[in-house]
Amino acid sequence: MVSRTIPVDTFDLILFGATGDLAARKILPSLYRRFLAGQMPEDARVIGAARSELDDEGFREIVRDALGEFVSPSKRDGDTIEKFLAQCSYIPIDAKEEAGWDALKERIRDDAIKAFYFSVGPSIFGPLAERLRSHGIAGPKCRLVVEKPFGTDLETARKLNDNLAESFDEAQIYRIDHFLGKETVQNLMAVRFANVLFEPLWNERYIDHVQITVSETVGVTGRGSYYDRSGAMRDMVQNHLMQLLCLTAMEPPNRYDADMLRDEKLKVIRALDPVSKEDVVRGQYKASGEQPSYVQDAENPDSRTESFVALKVGISNWRWKHVPFYLRTGKRMSRRLSEIVIQFKETSHSIFERDGLSKANSLTIRLQPDEGMDLSVTIKEPGPGGMRLVNVPLDMTFADALGPDGEEIPDAYERLIMDVIRGNQTLFMRGDEVEAAWAWTDPIIEEWEARGDRPASYSQGTSGPEEALALMHRDNRRWRDLEEE
Ligand code: BG6
Repeated sequence: MVSRTIPVDTFDLILFGATGDLAARKILPSLYRRFLAGQMPEDARVIGAARSELDDEGFREIVRDALGEFVSPSKRDGDTIEKFLAQCSYIPIDAKEEAGWDALKERIRDDAIKAFYFSVGPSIFGPLAERLRSHGIAGPKCRLVVEKPFGTDLETARKLNDNLAESFDEAQIYRIDHFLGKETVQNLMAVRFANVLFEPLWNERYIDHVQITVSETVGVTGRGSYYDRSGAMRDMVQNHLMQLLCLTAMEPPNRYDADMLRDEKLKVIRALDPVSKEDVVRGQYKASGEQPSYVQDAENPDSRTESFVALKVGISNWRWKHVPFYLRTGKRMSRRLSEIVIQFKETSHSIFERDGLSKANSLTIRLQPDEGMDLSVTIKEPGPGGMRLVNVPLDMTFADALGPDGEEIPDAYERLIMDVIRGNQTLFMRGDEVEAAWAWTDPIIEEWEARGDRPASYSQGTSGPEEALALMHRDNRRWRDLEEE
């Protein structure tokens, strides 16, 4: 990968929740890596803000530890770390208290871009935005970055949007869905809209169905209390899988422009059919040897929250009528894998004798790991024995295709934070998009809650409950095996 780092304009990034887990794991390491790459200017500043009574040095210690833990050793350079730390400072602040706000106002520069990053629980978004406004801190050069979860249903998301709109314009609000910052997710748009090959086939005439899988091997240890109120539907489907579905299904926007792109995504969400209860499977992982079960991880013996969900959804528009989209995501599965499979139809007529195997083409876009894509094509198996057909992959792995000098694929947060500073909202969710996603999700969850039944249990290290396999089998289709290369 060729480095094309262009420094951004100078900025003050005010990180609320600076002592939290996300700051340590993602936000601070990503800023450091951009600093190392020469993209973060040497006079840009990171101002940590949280309730802990720390001074600048105390905060720098926290940043140093975070970089030690979450930046790969090859990128940890002592001098660069010290320079980066010199640009970090701290102000103790509580959204509910008066103290600290005037100090913050004095600390930030009028002529710099100001990004207020809310890496805090959603209940604090509104009060923080209000403090910024009432203390005269929010202004035209300000941007607001908000993390997920953006609400827990349509009503709460609307309230949040309304709250933020009291202090900020939509053009200043950057709602993060970190999947959009992944290189491979952006690549999905390049594949679709920068090649002549795929677009003519990208419709109900040639595509049989689409599968979107995000499977993880991790459980919910350590974040059970958040997760148990959320579940896979709210934690993954309403946002990450929804975004993948939108980018796969949307019409080409006229330009790669924030609002044009988001308009197209919104149209997809609004065209999603309601999901009937027969078309959803919920699962919960059970204990396996020493590994605790979901309910043990969540510390809630009666929990009915799903750690797995699979569903089938249709899109009511010309392009996708009769093409089901199958989505599945789960924790403690056999493999960490995110991919989109476009399963094409079989040829309308075969001139060859079939050997029983389906020879339909498929395009698999591998989002992580082993980033790349492969297109399965049918060829003649070389050698005697007649016209024997086999499916082989035309395989493109980013790491190979982009050569040995390739840089590490940057973390999604690096791209997203720099886009905030550049003022580019393309990879962020608009308020109406988030609301539309909840409007589709809510009835599914309400129906479960009304029924009150337990999710199907599944063994850890598998591809989820049997019922999820049946969801496809009954349509004479099958999920791509998680272990398949
Ligand atoms: C987060 C979810 O948004 O995404 C987590 O809350 C999930 O439950 C994570 O594990 C997956 O992200 P990634 O980048 O590790 O694929």
